Amino acid sequence: VPEGYWGPVKQACEELGVLLIVDEVLSGFGRMGRAFGMQEFGIVPELTAFAKGVNGGYAPLGGVLVHKKVHDAILAAGARFHSQHTTAAHPIACAASLAVQRYAKDHQLFSKVAPRGEKLRAALSGLAVMKEGLLRVKSRGMFFELYIRTAQLNIKQVTLAAQGALLKRAIQIALEERVVLFPYSWDGSSMMVAFGPPFIIDDALQDEVVRRLDRALTRYSKISDLG
Ligand SMILES: Cc1ncc(COP(=O)(O)O)c(C=O)c1O
Repeated sequence: VPEGYWGPVKQACEELGVLLIVDEVLSGFGRMGRAFGMQEFGIVPELTAFAKGVNGGYAPLGGVLVHKKVHDAILAAGARFHSQHTTAAHPIACAASLAVQRYAKDHQLFSKVAPRGEKLRAALSGLAVMKEGLLRVKSRGMFFELYIRTAQLNIKQVTLAAQGALLKRAIQIALEERVVLFPYSWDGSSMMVAFGPPFIIDDALQDEVVRRLDRALTRYSKISDLG
């Protein structure tokens, strides 16, 4: 989001008595360098959805963090604070989450995110596709969006059919380079790939990941037909 976006949104919510609900499924649990992405903007939402990073994907778990004032308002209204269903708070998923968060705390992983993110960004800046203007990178911490386009396909706005064909090719190429790509959306003729390496990545693994990504993105950028 543009700088200065969240302050007025939060202020408008407060003036109108509207709860601010944010999705931190991707950005939460250190991905942007702090426990939650909204801390980067100095905003405390009323409800926060989280999942993925809470346990690094070792077990499926998602949840909603509820601000005390919302919790208290429910109780004050004489209702029960109900957050329970059949497989809610499953012990294995919770144990995995606690283990991951304990590891992150003991190894101060969140504080390593910003410098590692900068290293990664610098490595991506050196790629040929970047120098040729075929790759744009947006990032904060270790939360990356890679916008890649082909050099030869003269597509201004990619049609749905063309998107499908290009997605298939991108995933296939990446698999051949032993990379799993997660194409996420489109921006004009660029395909956006979400990229979020683990916080424990070291220089050697970073080199390996960037090398494979380079090969996959370079091959993608050379696609010249949709066949
Ligand atoms: C921003 C965001 N919110 C929510 C979800 C859904 O999360 P889950 O698959 O854990 O239900 C995703 C999944 O990719 C996501 O990227």
